Amino acid sequence: NIRIFKCIADLRKFRKDCWIKDLSVGFVPTMGYLHEGHLSLVRQSLEQNDVTLVSIFVNPSQFAPHEDLDAYPRNIERDLQLLESVVSKDRARRVAGVFTPSVREMYPSGIPLETSQQKGAFVSVSGVSEQLEGRARPQFFRGVATVVTKLFNIVEPTNAYFGQKDVQQSIVIKRMVSDLLFNVQIHVVDTVRDKTGLALSSRNSYLSDEVKKQASVLYRSMTGARSLYANNGNLTTGELKSSIEKTIVGENDKFEIDYVAFNYADTLEYVPEDATIDKERECILSLAVRVPNSNTENSGTTRLIDNIVFTK
Ligand code: PAJ
Repeated sequence: NIRIFKCIADLRKFRKDCWIKDLSVGFVPTMGYLHEGHLSLVRQSLEQNDVTLVSIFVNPSQFAPHEDLDAYPRNIERDLQLLESVVSKDRARRVAGVFTPSVREMYPSGIPLETSQQKGAFVSVSGVSEQLEGRARPQFFRGVATVVTKLFNIVEPTNAYFGQKDVQQSIVIKRMVSDLLFNVQIHVVDTVRDKTGLALSSRNSYLSDEVKKQASVLYRSMTGARSLYANNGNLTTGELKSSIEKTIVGENDKFEIDYVAFNYADTLEYVPEDATIDKERECILSLAVRVPNSNTENSGTTRLIDNIVFTK
């Protein structure tokens, strides 16, 4: 008995009632194909809010023309079942509603995939969008910031929940909320992993069981580097990177490293390759790796990302 809101007006009507009853609203934006990672955001929202809303919307403006927009996995029935099963610790609260808007309503000016043809209003967060994922996917964070702005304008959440798994996304959203004076509290929830250490992701469904098992090397290589560094704080990030790359390619020589990077968490500036890490600052180790997939619709590789807090 989760309510499903398919259009903006219905969601706004529901939200108005919450204002009148003075209920706090927790919001978890997603692109669906839910897994325990998403559910952990939902659980935190259930603990901290009277009402929890989840959105499921595969946002076209954050996909580049060559990316997997059409192939992106979708299964709304299964998503709803999963959401029905989540309960707060005191068993008093469940997800109140799921928002599944249409592309047409979310993008009244239309949304051609080619960014040069896109017209209308977009939100850019410069300074923290150009590094890491933004380097590999130039318009990605513009798409994310834009859709999250639209969702916030509709849902008007008291609290909103994002995952550490997409650390740069969380940083971009926090910066956007603070610079554009959004009236919402952003919470970042720890990455949920399977028992091998692989970070849960909707895109893991593209992988064969064997590649999935091997892909746990991403996390292992990062925690390995953190142990190396704990024993020798004079290692440069260049040296740490080489050890990580060796570990990953050693597991499967078809794994293609897109980047391995060390960045300071506050500004996302890169730690220089030949330098040791400034011990006064929080530093994030992140990586993106292309691994072979078993989904023929999707060009033969899947790009996985992960990160850990390297030093705090
Ligand atoms: P999606 O990839 O569906 O992820 C929705 C939220 O779940 C994000 O905040 C993401 O960081 C979090 N998440 C994903 N995997 C996780 C894991 N293993 N552990 C913890 N949290 C995890 O991120 C998006 O959608 C979109 O960019 C969106 C914010 C919805 C805008 O379109």
